[in-house]
Amino acid sequence: AIMSPPHSVTTAAVQQTTKLAQNQMPPKMTPKDYVFGKVIGEGSFSTVYLAMDIHTNKEYAIKVCDKRHIMREKKAKYIKREKEVLHILSSCVKPTAPFFVKLYCTFQDVDRLYFVLSYAKNGELLPHINKVGSFDITCTRFYAGEVLLALEHLHSLGIIHRDLKPENILLDDKMHILITDFGSAKIVSEETEQTNTGEPQARRRNSFVGTAQYVSPELLTDKYASKSADLWALGCLMYQMVAGLPPFRARSEYLIFKKILELDYVFPDGFDQSARDLVEKCLVLEPSKRLGAADVSGYPSIRSHNFFAGLDFESLHKQTPPQIY
Ligand code: ADE
Repeated sequence: AIMSPPHSVTTAAVQQTTKLAQNQMPPKMTPKDYVFGKVIGEGSFSTVYLAMDIHTNKEYAIKVCDKRHIMREKKAKYIKREKEVLHILSSCVKPTAPFFVKLYCTFQDVDRLYFVLSYAKNGELLPHINKVGSFDITCTRFYAGEVLLALEHLHSLGIIHRDLKPENILLDDKMHILITDFGSAKIVSEETEQTNTGEPQARRRNSFVGTAQYVSPELLTDKYASKSADLWALGCLMYQMVAGLPPFRARSEYLIFKKILELDYVFPDGFDQSARDLVEKCLVLEPSKRLGAADVSGYPSIRSHNFFAGLDFESLHKQTPPQIY
């Protein structure tokens, strides 16, 4: 269904031609260069549309943010952060880092900001887990492996995601992961990393950044997050893929936080032994004691865990993902 597109600026074509002729620069796109289709995602200050480039017929996901809403809610910092992170990831020296949504271009009109992103045809990971109840070990190993590779890459660039969850892990047309939503991300310098003395992170009055169920204990107590906050989230994700539900569940956010701080969770009967061992080594209250936290480059200690035995990490993004049953 074609919905009414966001309003666009005028004289776009004229501006473009002039710019190209004068500077030999790639032309700035405008909303008129796309046909906007259905809504495929909604955030608190953005809406994501499926859109087609009218020149190439290629599909994109365009994230549209309302400027007034962003200013009113004082979210400019988070939008800037997201653009900065996406830019770092999208302009990577490697032939484009797989496993991340790519930012193709940005533009704006009077009222809105537009982020043109890769379209993940198979949507969020969460409904795929929910549809089958839980993943088998082959599927869990594959997707946990892709997320681990993604985290190795992200962390090597000094980026902490801080809101990793199955809603932010999208699946492309071939069922490989594309991590998205860098609005809560943090870019750390090497010094900040060692001393942990940066600004208290992303915790605003009575609303924290991140999602209750996957939030790490240190973000709740110290407001500081390091790379190992993402390793905690990886543990939560693995648990959810195997068990079908996240490890820390309760009726309210407050009760979830209480359980997280007390490490109050159990494994259901039949939970795979090696998956359990790895989850237990990620869900450790002290961030520096999580598996991988002491690794210098990449996460060899996680890669070499029994749970991943037999998985060829180097070729993961070229493999055909296992069928989800
Ligand atoms: N929902 C939010 N972002 C998306 C994307 N890039 N592709 C598909 N669905 C999305």
